[in-house]
Amino acid sequence: MAGKGLEGVVVGQSRLSDINGEVGELIYAGYDIDDLARNTTFEEVCYLLWNGELPNREQLDGFKRELAANARLSDEMLAVLRTLPRDADPMAALRTAVSALGTFDPKADEITDAEVRRKALYLTAVTPTLVAAYDRLRNGNEPLQPKEGKSVASNFLYMLNGEEPNDTRCRTMDVALVLHAEHAMNASTFAARVTAGTLSDVYSCITSAIGTLKGPSHGGANVEVMNMLREIDESGQDPAAWVHGALEGGKKVMGFGHRVYRATDPRATVLRELADKIMAEAGETRWLDLSDKIRAAMADEMEKRGKKIYPNVDFFSASVYTTLGIPMDLFTAVFAIARTPGWTAHLLEQYADNRLIRPSSEYVGPRGKKVVPIDQR
Ligand code: COA
Repeated sequence: MAGKGLEGVVVGQSRLSDINGEVGELIYAGYDIDDLARNTTFEEVCYLLWNGELPNREQLDGFKRELAANARLSDEMLAVLRTLPRDADPMAALRTAVSALGTFDPKADEITDAEVRRKALYLTAVTPTLVAAYDRLRNGNEPLQPKEGKSVASNFLYMLNGEEPNDTRCRTMDVALVLHAEHAMNASTFAARVTAGTLSDVYSCITSAIGTLKGPSHGGANVEVMNMLREIDESGQDPAAWVHGALEGGKKVMGFGHRVYRATDPRATVLRELADKIMAEAGETRWLDLSDKIRAAMADEMEKRGKKIYPNVDFFSASVYTTLGIPMDLFTAVFAIARTPGWTAHLLEQYADNRLIRPSSEYVGPRGKKVVPIDQR
């Protein structure tokens, strides 16, 4: 039987990304994440994931135009968003909205390569608009539509905060999207592929993925990181003492540990640098200073306990997103925006070479029981 949590089980082949957890390396389609984060944009990475190669200038310009043309929300979808309760979890709202998008697409059930590509582009373009629109509606503001000629990152921050971000903020958002775009056979990607394996439609697959990403052991972790930072900050406790107490109490410290990485998550390294820049510019380094103290305390504690637990991507994304003006309960939805190109790239692979994904379970229940008539039970 496979190990609990399917650890180490290879469930299929993919050309999209690979993780070497021992040395903390991540590649997308052959390119190191560090190189991509420093030298490309989210739009280039979407193109890479769907086409296997980075675009040239002309290809990128055309691709950006297509993304922009798909980013607006229809009146019908705005009406759907308006019916949702204002206190709904934004991930629940996004899950419902993506599912609803499928009901408005007359070709929702077509899963030819061309149709899956069209929907991949549409969902990637429109998800930031959905997330920002829901946030504005729940705060009593009218949703904003994207501006022409702007990047996904820039438009998202504009539609959320109502003002165009400066270059540092825009680039920080852009890099955060690049860093979260793809991550091999993680739980939400697996969920998307399982759904595609039944030959269900793209909207259903992405709805499955969003529901899976929502959990605190996956995409919800950076929300828990921010809760932790706030708790320590408000308590005025020494961060090292707090970490020690949490571990002694058998708690997990959020933003640390990973099923695959046994070294620092390379995405955390890039985010730490971005955090430095954006927080210095904002003149508010409180969260970063606190994060650094927690990281140092965890390093000490883990060494004493002989465990290889390092910061993961969520550890720094929490304070970066807060500095970008993104409300805490929207963090996981931002992750979903970034991961949509990765999920849909996996769908292209799954549909192209599909076999129903249907593992087995080991039965450990009783056998041979006989039904007792209901009045005698
Ligand atoms: N804080 C304290 N201890 C941790 C820890 C953390 N964040 N993450 C793992 N550990 C401990 C485990 O309890 C386990 O201890 P044990 O051997 O005494 O039982 C040991 O380290 C090994 O754990 P591991 O097998 O690597 O964890 P996993 O693969 O089952 O779980 C996570 C991985 C991500 C679910 C887990 O590390 C976690 O819950 N982290 C916090 C949430 C988080 O940041 N998630 C985002 C992931 S990107």
